[in-house]
Amino acid sequence: MKKIFFTRIAGLMVLAIVFAMTGCGNRDMIVLTPNGDAIIQADGTSNQSVQTGSSQTASASKTSTTDTKQETEKPAPGEKSSGGGSSGSGLIRVGFAEVGTEAGWRLAHAQSMKEAFSEANGYQLDFVDCNNDLKTQVEAVQKFIDDKVDYIVLDPIIEDGYDDVLKNAQAAGIPVIVTDRNISADESLYACWVGSNFVQEGIDAANWLVEDLKKKGRDSEDINIVTILGTNGASAATGRTEGFEKVAKDQPHWKLLDKQSGDFSKAGGTAVMKVFLKQYDDIDVLVCQNDDEAFGAIEVLKDAGLTCGPEGDIILISYDATGDGFKAMIAGDINVDVECNPLAGPFVADLIQKLEAGEKVDKIQYLEEGVFPAETAEEILPSRAY
Ligand code: AHR
Repeated sequence: MKKIFFTRIAGLMVLAIVFAMTGCGNRDMIVLTPNGDAIIQADGTSNQSVQTGSSQTASASKTSTTDTKQETEKPAPGEKSSGGGSSGSGLIRVGFAEVGTEAGWRLAHAQSMKEAFSEANGYQLDFVDCNNDLKTQVEAVQKFIDDKVDYIVLDPIIEDGYDDVLKNAQAAGIPVIVTDRNISADESLYACWVGSNFVQEGIDAANWLVEDLKKKGRDSEDINIVTILGTNGASAATGRTEGFEKVAKDQPHWKLLDKQSGDFSKAGGTAVMKVFLKQYDDIDVLVCQNDDEAFGAIEVLKDAGLTCGPEGDIILISYDATGDGFKAMIAGDINVDVECNPLAGPFVADLIQKLEAGEKVDKIQYLEEGVFPAETAEEILPSRAY
């Protein structure tokens, strides 16, 4: 577990490589931060990251998969049916359809976008909080198209349901950048995607558990595991589940008792935990697919006279690694928090600048993320940016 954490941190401190030096047409995997820090992966299979600069939280880094067949340029002048969405103000007009305000993580994500797309940075931002409702989000994107914005940024609530509106954006010549969660639509319908590797997050969480049980001499004990899932159909939930279960299937003593959606909210975490406690009296591990769900579940456990965390009855694994998640680790309630990086704003803005300049951009780029066990929380919390 410590190994995972320190490997990641070490990987973040090695070296900076200027993006221009890497070129756009090779198959290397590239990491680029807005201040010029870069990460490369020689063959697209290893995951060695390099970064210079400040703490990994204040200056987020990302990995990106470069594939010559998967690069995107802004449509050539004239391909766009209309332009100048900012009505001659000189600002680049960006429409951003945000998921909602379901969690602390989401507020940090929205804030990152708002800061990146400020007027001072040369943007006019049309921001829509889509309240976790697909219909609202599709309508928001359609309105951006009707308003002739220059770029659309979409954080898809769920994976399916965007094909038609993306076709409309393409017909209008408006590039769409998908961020955070994944989408099932054909890749030709959007310019690029930047966000979290949710499957990897699930793998990291499960690998931490493997090591933790080993350390405690519990690796040949039957371990009952329940999971409070995120929003049904959201890639943040399906990816984490897929990754965790990929590792779990090779653990003969792990019993995946149950998984139910808590919709990435504290209220959802509370409701599902109550159900789990009624149904199961021997839970060893609780996985919450975000911090807010964990906060709800912790309250329910405490009300029931149970404890969780490193010294508690139940091992609690959470995702996001928000400031409040760190505080819950310091309070002794969460064992490990697997990071989901919300600081995507500067990277999305960087992509838009490249598209504006007619440069090719990588189709898929992952944000760099870490794994934070409770014993590291006190030391690391002061350097966290969210
Ligand atoms: O898509 C990112 C996930 O969505 C975060 O884990 C969660 O907090 C948010 O609701």
